[in-house]
Amino acid sequence: MKKIIQVGTGGFGSTWLEILKDDPQTDVVAIVDVVEENLEKAKKMMGTKEVHYYLNHVEAFEQEEADIAVVITPPQTHKQIAMDALENNLHVFMEKPLAHTKEEADALYELAKNYEQYVVVSQNYRYRPEIQAIKQAVEQQAAGPIEYAEWNFQRASKFGGWRDNYQEIIIEDMSIHHFDLLRYILGKNADTVYAKSMRPSWSWFKGNPTASVLINMEGILVNYFASWVTSGPETSWNGECKLYGKQGVIALINDLPVIIKPNGEEQSIPVPDMKRQDRAFSINEMISAIEGGREPDNVISDNIHSFHIVSASLESIKLKREINLKEEISC
Ligand SMILES: NC(=O)c1ccc[n+]([C@@H]2O[C@H](COP(=O)([O-])OP(=O)(O)OC[C@H]3O[C@@H](n4cnc5c(N)ncnc54)[C@H](O)[C@@H]3O)[C@@H](O)[C@H]2O)c1
Repeated sequence: MKKIIQVGTGGFGSTWLEILKDDPQTDVVAIVDVVEENLEKAKKMMGTKEVHYYLNHVEAFEQEEADIAVVITPPQTHKQIAMDALENNLHVFMEKPLAHTKEEADALYELAKNYEQYVVVSQNYRYRPEIQAIKQAVEQQAAGPIEYAEWNFQRASKFGGWRDNYQEIIIEDMSIHHFDLLRYILGKNADTVYAKSMRPSWSWFKGNPTASVLINMEGILVNYFASWVTSGPETSWNGECKLYGKQGVIALINDLPVIIKPNGEEQSIPVPDMKRQDRAFSINEMISAIEGGREPDNVISDNIHSFHIVSASLESIKLKREINLKEEISC
């Protein structure tokens, strides 16, 4: 069992508390939020359990005996909170994205090299049964080697708050999930990225909620499209993907994994039975790794490659040209 300090108990943080308070592997000893009202809500949620509440994360890190800081705050706060946690000998388990800017992500990546504690980014989409099924089908070459791919994500999502201040909101907050899934499923890193974004006239976001990104992943051409303001049907949060090999298409449509043969015949891909899934799997993976003396999945040295697809997309939008990750983005 690991002692947890959870920092941030807003929209997603409160649902994280539900997961952590029922998990036999975690003991939430302290909760931090800069908004008192949110701490009050957390108190109600934790019931009679003895938990200490703080308005300042450094105070909590200094005063509590704990193992892991679970950070569920807005991206622009991630670097500082993670650095303070490392300084206080805590492992860091953080919501995506690693940081808001490339500068912050790279600085945290460099700093983390000096500590034995891990910085892990929770890429929970990886641990969904339908994603595991797609990954296995790709690895088993059920359609032959994948040569090109399409990914389409369409939601009409209203949040408000800090997301309204982000200029490239869809790329900055959402697309990291899909970029990370592409790396995870295909087992490849991105070489080049060419991106464009726009703000449809009906958008309720101040920044650009719609973007198109062409990614070359070690020879595989990926056509990625995402929108948070669709006026048409929504996809699931995973989005829909189609991965093309010579012997067919491995596809995820409405979260159902299928293989479509060149003659049009469609077969469903068996979905694994997972005792823990999604976020519950994600935190469990880190704890099992620490307890087993191995490196967890999604440590910063791996996650930086997913984050750099975000960075390259932003750079491409700004410069209006293709970006070469090795030459212009990697640190
Ligand atoms: N994995 C997923 O599917 C998923 C889904 C939603 C959100 N997220 C991520 O979770 C993170 C939080 O998003 P959210 O939707 O919960 O945002 P939110 O605005 O609803 O909540 C953020 C909370 O952090 C608090 N906070 C801000 N600065 C703080 C600080 N310095 N110290 C302590 N608390 C602080 C705020 O008061 C608020 O309660 C983001 O990184 C977001 O991208 C991930």
